[in-house]
Amino acid sequence: MTPRPTHAPPPQASTPTSRPIPAQRRASAALADGPDRPCKAKPQPAPPWVDPASNRECDLEIVNLQDLEQDAKRILSPRRYSFIEPVGDGVSYRENLRAFEAHPILPRRLRGIKAIDLRTQLLGQALPFPIITCPMGSHGRFHVEAENATARGTGAAGTLYVSSGAANQTMEDIAGATSGPKWFQIYMNRDMEINRWLCKRAREAGYTAIVFTVDALGASQSDAYVRHGRYTPPDLTIGNHDPKRGGRGDFRDQKRDITFEDIRFLREESGLPVVVKGLTHPDDVDKAIGAGAAAVWISNHGGRQIDGVPASLTLLEAAAKRVAGRVPVIFDSGVRRGIDVFKAIALGADVVAVGRPVLWGLINGGAGGVKTVYEHIVRELKEAMLLAGRANVKDITRDSVG
Ligand code: FNR
Repeated sequence: MTPRPTHAPPPQASTPTSRPIPAQRRASAALADGPDRPCKAKPQPAPPWVDPASNRECDLEIVNLQDLEQDAKRILSPRRYSFIEPVGDGVSYRENLRAFEAHPILPRRLRGIKAIDLRTQLLGQALPFPIITCPMGSHGRFHVEAENATARGTGAAGTLYVSSGAANQTMEDIAGATSGPKWFQIYMNRDMEINRWLCKRAREAGYTAIVFTVDALGASQSDAYVRHGRYTPPDLTIGNHDPKRGGRGDFRDQKRDITFEDIRFLREESGLPVVVKGLTHPDDVDKAIGAGAAAVWISNHGGRQIDGVPASLTLLEAAAKRVAGRVPVIFDSGVRRGIDVFKAIALGADVVAVGRPVLWGLINGGAGGVKTVYEHIVRELKEAMLLAGRANVKDITRDSVG
């Protein structure tokens, strides 16, 4: 088991840590009786699973996002949940959480703030707040509605959904599920024709940027996942894969010898801006911008690729300094609270992406769960800004944190 993160008190083992929205908002029949919390039920696909994915659909009353992890682990079997766990000894995962503690917020007072304005812009797209959903693969393991529910919940919250190249549904289906803006994330295939085809499909499906993930080059998995025999439920496929084109569409077909040249390739083939995800070194950030990156995404993949690397937050400031405003900086890894979003922006991020908490929302409440994860973190961010004396996102400057 992964040790608990250091900055959240452990919930009581037998107590559900978040509650569903009260009874009048619930469907009267077919409740998905999860651990202690009634929710509407989505139909389960046949055959009936002994080890089912979540079929829950409800808004959640959330005390804090970290609590949802505990509940997600009570809803799914350890076998299904193992895909979410960090790799190795979980050192980088814990570091991602701990690093936020090293930057205390330095509030300013008496600023007469009447309203908090969270609006921001990202590559020409207006966002209601500076928080977006990370690309994450294989949501069919977690919920019967898979990526469609995550995309719908993100869209209902009004923000950007980044559709993973390793999703279980097709990028066209997912594009149709969200009412919000959307980007497509690619793991490059060894077959450049397949990359061309994916770029074309993404453009035609209405995605407005390609996210090129450069820090995952194979089957890096948690020990728990390996122990469970690298379990993939038999009904799950890689949504974007066409067997007629050969290969399996997963990491076994991945192009591992990627270079900065591939940024140019993706830009030319898609005609879309390319966001490079998984950078941490300032020199790499520089080279990516030189090769045409429209934005850089500072991330260590949430401690899910190589263990033993520093927290993403620890590397953010130096990377953002090198960017020097040339392109937007996106940040992820370890964001669990509104104050975490605040700190990442103070250290140089323009927009912050949330990973696991969105999946915990999906498992606990489907699209409604995802939407309420956003409502909760946005509320926390607003409170943090008010109490720290920062009225809008641009006011969250470097001197806002120690
Ligand atoms: C991921 N992540 C990821 N990244 C990516 O570019 N493409 C992908 O398909 C996936 N798949 C994926 C699956 C799961 C289960 C997780 C938890 C993560 C990484 C993700 O985009 C992001 O970098 C981290 O999740 C951020 O860390 P936190 O917020 O989860 O701590």
